[in-house]
Amino acid sequence: MTENKRQFRAIKGTRDILPPDSALWNWFEQTARNTFESYNFREIRLPIFEETELFARSIGEETDVVSKEMYEVLEHDLLDIQWLRDQIIRSNPSSNDQEAVRALVDKVRRLIDAAKNALDRDEMPDTTHNWNALKQLQMGADGIDTSIIPVGMGHAKFLLFINQIHFAAGTLRFGIRMRPEATASVVRSYIEHGMQALPGNAKLYYVGPMFRRERPQKGRYRQFYQIGAEVLGQSDAPAIDAEVIEMLMTFFKRAGLTRTTLYINSIGDKNCRPQYVELLREELRKVADQLGPDSQRRIETNPLRVLDSKLPEEQAIIAKLPRISDHLCDACRDHFAKLKEELSLRGIAYEENWRLVRGLDYYTRTTFEVVAEGLGSQNAVCGGGRYDGLVELLGGPPTKGIGFAIGTDRAILSIQESGKLPQLPALAVFVAWMGQAAYPTAVNITRKLRDAGLAVELPAEEMKFKKSLGLADKLGARYALIIGEDEVNSGTFTLKRLADSEQKKLSEFDLLEYLESERRDTRA
Ligand code: HAM
Repeated sequence: MTENKRQFRAIKGTRDILPPDSALWNWFEQTARNTFESYNFREIRLPIFEETELFARSIGEETDVVSKEMYEVLEHDLLDIQWLRDQIIRSNPSSNDQEAVRALVDKVRRLIDAAKNALDRDEMPDTTHNWNALKQLQMGADGIDTSIIPVGMGHAKFLLFINQIHFAAGTLRFGIRMRPEATASVVRSYIEHGMQALPGNAKLYYVGPMFRRERPQKGRYRQFYQIGAEVLGQSDAPAIDAEVIEMLMTFFKRAGLTRTTLYINSIGDKNCRPQYVELLREELRKVADQLGPDSQRRIETNPLRVLDSKLPEEQAIIAKLPRISDHLCDACRDHFAKLKEELSLRGIAYEENWRLVRGLDYYTRTTFEVVAEGLGSQNAVCGGGRYDGLVELLGGPPTKGIGFAIGTDRAILSIQESGKLPQLPALAVFVAWMGQAAYPTAVNITRKLRDAGLAVELPAEEMKFKKSLGLADKLGARYALIIGEDEVNSGTFTLKRLADSEQKKLSEFDLLEYLESERRDTRA
């Protein structure tokens, strides 16, 4: 096949949501909107990309999402820096290839200059993190310069400098990223628009696509969709947590997603969690040799994440680790106990799961997740929790926050697997017109039926009677409206119900009345 005949396909990890599935998606999202609005939440529409730094600071540098899953958006102003950075990361010269080593050092120096300029022009975030990365780059380049050129240096030392350069170039934070989630954007928007001055709590929901460069599999995509809700305000009353969870479970019930389990946990706050994390780290160090490489790394970077491990061989070890519930401070223990009372008051079934720590760094106290049946390993349909310090961390006033995000792709899969699909609007009428004399009547009645809220298909070209009815059937129409010479002459319409071929002759008035009442009945 020649190149220009090549067929395009959706990019790996992305997909098209086609009809009739799209109708199920719309219905699902509309049910969420209706439910959330009945709890006095209002929609917020957010940008799809934001500053890299926003995600790095809120979600956490060490999380998988930030360290390896975000898509970078190329920005014209920063193309030079981006190009140099990518070239540097890819360049791996051997220590005796003087020319290649010189070229690398030259690029590092150009990158440092370009980055400093961008920092001066405010095109790159002026953060200690970025200045440190530049310092590391400088040290790496100087190290190679003074030692290898012209004398030549030991291989190990050379590699050390190369690693330092690669690492520092990789951690430079600039430019923009496609959003991997929306909580960070909601908080950014809350601060930017001074929403703390509004009466009551800010209760916001959002619907839309998110982007994470994960390995695609069933229920895991690189462009996926979330429906999320957030409450931001002055209070951290457990009743807010409970209401948010109640709203979520009410929505799932209305959407027919009933084979679910709600897991809850408290991961403490800044008063009690650091001590627990240290204790956990100490215990993990004792068993480090029995853990896999990921968990071993996390002992130092983020020991809580070890509790997330799904590796079968690590489960028995994790089961014996100290549990956060035994190490909560009084305030956190009390908050968690009240949350459970509040959930019981609302008749919400839950299970406690002490290992539910979640993969994003901003959480404090309450965390929760909903798992659904029929999804295999990617079975979390919703994740959420409290993030009381996040607004302040991003430069806003002291504010409490809690929210969740539902993975729409997975929720829809679970509904489809359950086989309990809702009745969705389908094609009501196919207008089978024959003969040019019938055409004006067909156009006219089609408009009137559509005005009455019915879905109507009007063939643009005349069709043979049999073909016309065949197509009506294939399109899944409930009725065929037959308009031929007879009908035009007598001023009536023939309405044929396709399920049982029952036919009626009706005046225009009776036709409209009949179809409208039928529509009301099928909706009811
Ligand atoms: P999260 O747990 O990262 O939390 O994502 C929430 C849900 O999004 C997951 O439970 C899952 O259903 C869905 N999801 C995540 N990644 C993928 C993927 N690659 N493919 C398909 N579905 C996926 C958050 O995003 C937080 N912002 C939730 C939150 C809001 N916490 C407080 N407020």
